[in-house]
Amino acid sequence: MPKITILPQNATAEVEAGQTLLEAGEHAGVEMEAGCFNCSCGTCVAEVVQGMENLDPPSDEELDVLDQWNKDPVKYRLTCCVKIQGGSVVLRQAH
Ligand code: FES
Repeated sequence: MPKITILPQNATAEVEAGQTLLEAGEHAGVEMEAGCFNCSCGTCVAEVVQGMENLDPPSDEELDVLDQWNKDPVKYRLTCCVKIQGGSVVLRQAH
């Protein structure tokens, strides 16, 4: 099963493949920052410290929002719209 770790709390959980990062973080017991839950506001942006290769590639919509927040998609993702596919992912909340 995929594993999520949220920093700085260092909270971890095993999650189902196909869960969003937001769902996975909540599953780990962390109150995740979010607004629209729809990949359009950018409130949920988080740094992917490890495991970017285990996530869906960004959609054009996500890339537009990251650009508005000046966040490099190589390091940052929107947790409400990105799903974990496997492996382990370490996130740091960006707010
Ligand atoms: S909660 Fe708005 S983009 Fe994720």
